[in-house]
Amino acid sequence: MESVIQCIKVSKTYEGRYKALDDINLEIKKGDFVFIVGPTGAGKTTLLRHIYMSDFPDDGEVRVLDYSSRRIKKEEIKFLRRKIGIIFQDFKLLDDRDAVSNVSLALEAIGENPRKAREKALNVLYNLGMLSKAEKSIYELSGGEKQKVAIARALVREPVILIADEPTGNIDPKAQDDIMNLLQEIHSKGTTVIMATHNYSLIEKIKIKKLIYMEYGRIKRVQSP
Ligand SMILES: Nc1ncnc2c1ncn2[C@@H]1O[C@H](COP(=O)(O)OP(=O)(O)OP(=O)(O)O)[C@@H](O)[C@H]1O
Ligand SMILES: [Mg+2]
Repeated sequence: MESVIQCIKVSKTYEGRYKALDDINLEIKKGDFVFIVGPTGAGKTTLLRHIYMSDFPDDGEVRVLDYSSRRIKKEEIKFLRRKIGIIFQDFKLLDDRDAVSNVSLALEAIGENPRKAREKALNVLYNLGMLSKAEKSIYELSGGEKQKVAIARALVREPVILIADEPTGNIDPKAQDDIMNLLQEIHSKGTTVIMATHNYSLIEKIKIKKLIYMEYGRIKRVQSP
């Protein structure tokens, strides 16, 4: 399979502290389901931020799809982001808007007309079992429901890569199961999924996966399927 992400000797230090990333070499292939695990402060979020190019290495190179951290121009980053869906632990939704607008705005932001954007947003919410909540404001939803809205927002642009940073951190075990099942299903349709977590019990839920263990900014161990 072709590779979608390559990290080549990637290092990053924040303000003279120890290295958040220390000589990371990594390849992720199209269709992989990758878990990035390791203790708090290991560099998991930092590595993900380098993949969606919200941060750049001091040394080395990150290649994602057709883009390189060495060559990408500031105005090209939005084109890369269209191909990457991102899910955060704290959802990052607009609390005073309803579920469907949170999803449709992701399309309107890239020029889709509002009517069409709403139609697509409703369709994705339907697929996630969230149609009955589409017109509820975010503050009326449970944690698990909020995360499903965030997943819908990430999926509505049909990303090639889905990045999830501790996506089940704030939700109960039943909702965690739902989220993992959703990620499994998204993956089975061909999306490359990369998820950071320190919850090892979630990893068991995905059968075929690649595990990357990080510690002190380094990759300690890789376990391939
Ligand atoms: N923007 C930043 N400025 C300064 N230091 C940072 C910044 N981002 C991360 N760090 C530091 O880099 C190290 C790695 O942090 P990172 O957030 O990547 O860890 P993590 O593995 O995601 O941890 P957690 O499991 O708690 O989410 C930590 O020491 C952190 O304090
Ligand atoms: Mg983190």
